[in-house]
Amino acid sequence: MNKKNILVVGSLNMDMTVSLKNIPKIGETVLGEHLRYVPGGKGANQVVACAQLGDTVTMLGSVGSDSHGGILVQNLKKAGVIVDHIQAPKNEPSGLAIIYVEDSGKNNIVVIPGANEKTDIAYLEQHEEVFAMCDYLLVQMEIPLESILYAVKKAKQFGAKVILNPAPSPDSSEIISYILQYVDIITPNETELQTLTGWAGEFSLDQLKASANKLLEQGPSQVIVTLGGQGAALCESGKEPLIVPPPDAEVVDTVAAGDCFNGALVVALSEGKSVEEAIRFANYASTIAVTRKGAQDSIPSRAEVEEFIKELTDE
Ligand code: RIB
Repeated sequence: MNKKNILVVGSLNMDMTVSLKNIPKIGETVLGEHLRYVPGGKGANQVVACAQLGDTVTMLGSVGSDSHGGILVQNLKKAGVIVDHIQAPKNEPSGLAIIYVEDSGKNNIVVIPGANEKTDIAYLEQHEEVFAMCDYLLVQMEIPLESILYAVKKAKQFGAKVILNPAPSPDSSEIISYILQYVDIITPNETELQTLTGWAGEFSLDQLKASANKLLEQGPSQVIVTLGGQGAALCESGKEPLIVPPPDAEVVDTVAAGDCFNGALVVALSEGKSVEEAIRFANYASTIAVTRKGAQDSIPSRAEVEEFIKELTDE
């Protein structure tokens, strides 16, 4: 197996997760069932997926100098992530996410970035050697945009493959076009694809293809659109989108399922799998994640994914 070094540059948050029957509408007050504090953040969730499903993975990011910061770093360490370069700037609170998860498993999330804002260019510049060592860079959008641009440029300069998960997606498609020239694979979900490309209508395969083409024209060689329960669509220039469906699952909580997908995708690519095979592997891993509550604690181990694949193929 052809394993390569993965670097994740991104956010770490403490998730305050409220479980409730239905997510409240504007102006509505509802009673929640319970509240849990769990380690999250798109960057941290994705790095945990890489570590549990693959091998060597390093994270660059920031936590606060508060009690949450220590817990967030420890959780990554427990998963096997190289955490030596994560910084904890003084007098900054850790990133915080307020998450509602309703009985259907669907969620909505508000992130207060806190220390994630300190994952700035000055900090990244101090870790040039980490960029030099990486073969794959995985980055999301919960850190400053100029830091994302710096990271993708630097990784490309050292010959790495760059995967951008554009979550949460910025409102301006102009900003993303600067970044996209350094990106090999972009992995929006449907909503993010709509925001990035200004697509306003109903979902259709033609629309998906047209929107993905807009991104392909700006640099990436693949657009992988995650479609929740429908799996993911692989879009490449001059080809029809290839929909890769996931196995069936009883959905409990979709928080971090996309993060698990992204981490698993990069692990599979780093092992030399084709993009299509990597999507299949990522579908299996994220299908397990939606059957479990929480963010990082919902992400399966490699053994669990292998066992799941075996069970399905033996059926
Ligand atoms: O993708 C899920 C994550 O988004 C949560 O863990 C939350 O922290 C936000 O970053």
